[in-house]
Amino acid sequence: MSRNTAKIFVDANRTIAEISPLLFGGFAEHMGRCVYEGIYDPKSPRADERGFRTDVLEALREQKYSVMRYPGGNFLSGYNWLDGVGPKDQRPRRRDLAWFSIETNQFGTDEFIEFCRAIDSEPMLAVNMGTGTIQSAADLVEYCNAPTGTYYADLRAKYGHKEPYNVRYWCVGNEMDGPWQIGHLDMEEYGKKAREAAKMMKWHDPSIKTVLCGSSNDQMPTFPEWDRTALEIAWEHVDYLSIHHYTNNSAGDTPSYLASAIQFEHYLDTLDGTLRYVKAKKRSKHDVYLSWDEWQVWNFSAPTTGKWDEAPHLAEEIYTLEDALVVAQWLNVFLRRAHVLKIACVAQIVNIISWLQTRPDGLLKQTSFYPFKLVSNHARGESLDVAVQAPTIDTAKWGGVPALDVSASYDAASGEGAVFIVNRSETDALVTDVVWQDGKTLTVTGGWQLAGTDPKAANTWEEPNNITAQAIQAPAVEDGKATLQLPPLSFTVLTTKAA
Ligand code: AHR
Repeated sequence: MSRNTAKIFVDANRTIAEISPLLFGGFAEHMGRCVYEGIYDPKSPRADERGFRTDVLEALREQKYSVMRYPGGNFLSGYNWLDGVGPKDQRPRRRDLAWFSIETNQFGTDEFIEFCRAIDSEPMLAVNMGTGTIQSAADLVEYCNAPTGTYYADLRAKYGHKEPYNVRYWCVGNEMDGPWQIGHLDMEEYGKKAREAAKMMKWHDPSIKTVLCGSSNDQMPTFPEWDRTALEIAWEHVDYLSIHHYTNNSAGDTPSYLASAIQFEHYLDTLDGTLRYVKAKKRSKHDVYLSWDEWQVWNFSAPTTGKWDEAPHLAEEIYTLEDALVVAQWLNVFLRRAHVLKIACVAQIVNIISWLQTRPDGLLKQTSFYPFKLVSNHARGESLDVAVQAPTIDTAKWGGVPALDVSASYDAASGEGAVFIVNRSETDALVTDVVWQDGKTLTVTGGWQLAGTDPKAANTWEEPNNITAQAIQAPAVEDGKATLQLPPLSFTVLTTKAA
């Protein structure tokens, strides 16, 4: 293989698994300006009659979030959901001990459900396992999902929502392994509390799916023992194990950073093994999958705790081209591990650690907004096991890695497919053959490319379109092969349609 050529082999028969639509989810926490001034800002001239920012709603719809996790995060572990329902003028102002901010409770469970409906996203609620009891967790399921006729369901009706919400996905706590968590527990304590909470929650509504807290990240001293222990205790009562991970290039080592997919795969593979081990040990017929319900680039370049103010500017990150290419790889990994990963939620959707930033008069879409939008719009059907021949890049952290990071999808029902290609080389353009080996007659229906010469290039309020996804000329397919130019530092998407 020459330094400047590559080959990508795609075969619709070589499948990995059905791509869960829930891989393209988001996370909204009561933190900084995510909820207030992000989603909900009734004083803004851009707000609709419900107080939702219409420009934010539009951008979120563009990104097609399939599922939305709420209300935290660390915030969750001190939150009493009853504070956030009922007449707004009677809701208490509280001190939030997770982020040292003032919580006004003007946005709560009912507003969140309304918000999910506005963006056509499935709600994924979380119950407090810190200061919260198993009773308060079960009560929230009753409030959301039970028909009227009992106390909490009637409370929902009294507040204007007669019909049950039928919330299907429920996180049982958040990062309970972390000493920073309000009400942190050790692994046995958490496993038992989560099991009992999940039991009561499912007795209220057997159709719900529950997510057990896994380790907060793979650097925790208790990883992966926490995951194994909590799973062994709660296995039959939970459906997913959560993974959280934030990354950044604080080491200033761009080649290694641009190979982050390797770390993401290791993390998933370790937990895939843990799930198989526990299932075998328990002689269980039940399956538990993974829910990567917090993932994002987080540089910690902005403050993360407030000073007892409302909606402080916390964790408002600037995202660069290299960050966008790491996000694209993350999404590729989601497709390549689609057999075990069934839910993923980017943390977070607006202002906090987000590619969307608001100010009173505008909305900024940062670099990594675009890879998410492209993959969530085009990855459908089954994930394909792609074979790649590409030159190797040397990295300090991972040794030699292929210059290309690729995933692909194919939806047999519609005949539509897509190929997602990151060229992680900082210097080398590649001429790549994409070879479809399954003998189908197909055309390339669309192509987009996000690229730049400076890995640190970003979009700013002054220059908001420095790095965006540009439409490219769809290459012709001859004898099942198309040839494509991949600039260095680029993400390319091709969509196809079989005849
Ligand atoms: O997303 C920000 C925070 O990161 C969440 O509150 C917490 O779960 C994680 O540590």
